[in-house]
Amino acid sequence: MDTLDTLDTLDTPGTPGTLHTPGTRDGQRTARHLVSVDDLTDGELRRIVRRGAEFSAGTAGRSDALEGLVAGIYFAKTSTRTRTAFSSGALRLGARIIAYGPGDLQLNTGETTEDTGRVLSGMLDVLVARTAGPEAELRGWAAQDRMAVVNAMSAEEHPTQALTDLTTLLRHFGRIEGLRILYVGEGNNTAAALALALTRFPSVHLELRTPPGYGLPAQVAARARAQAEQYGAVLRERHDMDALPAEYDVVYTTRWQTTGTSKPDPDWREVFAPFQVTARLWDGGSRAVFMHDLPAHRGEEVTAEVLDGPQSIAFAQATNKMHSAMAVLEHAAGRTAR
Ligand code: CP
Repeated sequence: MDTLDTLDTLDTPGTPGTLHTPGTRDGQRTARHLVSVDDLTDGELRRIVRRGAEFSAGTAGRSDALEGLVAGIYFAKTSTRTRTAFSSGALRLGARIIAYGPGDLQLNTGETTEDTGRVLSGMLDVLVARTAGPEAELRGWAAQDRMAVVNAMSAEEHPTQALTDLTTLLRHFGRIEGLRILYVGEGNNTAAALALALTRFPSVHLELRTPPGYGLPAQVAARARAQAEQYGAVLRERHDMDALPAEYDVVYTTRWQTTGTSKPDPDWREVFAPFQVTARLWDGGSRAVFMHDLPAHRGEEVTAEVLDGPQSIAFAQATNKMHSAMAVLEHAAGRTAR
């Protein structure tokens, strides 16, 4: 199915609570930072996903929402998809962009993230930043309320990947509620953001199979479980590939060597080997689609047969990074269509 007919179901709010109430000042919303999925209210999360799906489906119409704005694109680490998605997305929305590479800013000579954010906020409207370092760095950039800071991947979370993934699910299934997702691989920043986003949708069943010692960080798991309980979703995590769920709609994996990280255990490949996604997961006629945040290493986390097979929507998912980035940029600029 490839329909947006049931998009309205996304408007169903989660149970009101204290989990998602981003900062306000004197009752006025300040800069719309997106450092964590948790920075989004339920309404914002659903609007961004729906808008991304509209861009993806070609039903969004022409948007010049960023006309007259300047976006900074700072990538301290390698990126093919996210950097291009936000650059192309900003240009398509009418913004001008300034790109910074890893060697460009005075951060390298010791200027603080707070001072950097403060200075740039007088010149830029939005800053998209991949540090792959601690989230605290991005919070430093975001310690001002004029320039929205968007996390394009930190050590803890990859929130714009999760928004892309939900956009892709919505495009493919026409809904997110009730989907059964089998995530196989490291509990990395992609998994963390996905868990924090998906558990805010009723009846979602997210089953993670993570290698022993490489699971979701305890804090993320606890938070996602609390959300699952609040919103009526289910989150389970095991560290083996036994007793898999009888049915699933999606198999999701991520590469074994997450950008910006290394594994101290020299034998880590032996630990990860049983978690390779192979066609075996489709034995018995499963109709599940395959998703991957990419880049992929065929023969490691997934076989070529699966990644390049008919069940794979990984490359449509990659294209959706740009559509989702456009929705994120509209939100960050405070120029959402509705
Ligand atoms: N998935 C992802 O973030 O891809 P890039 O590292 O190429 O941006």
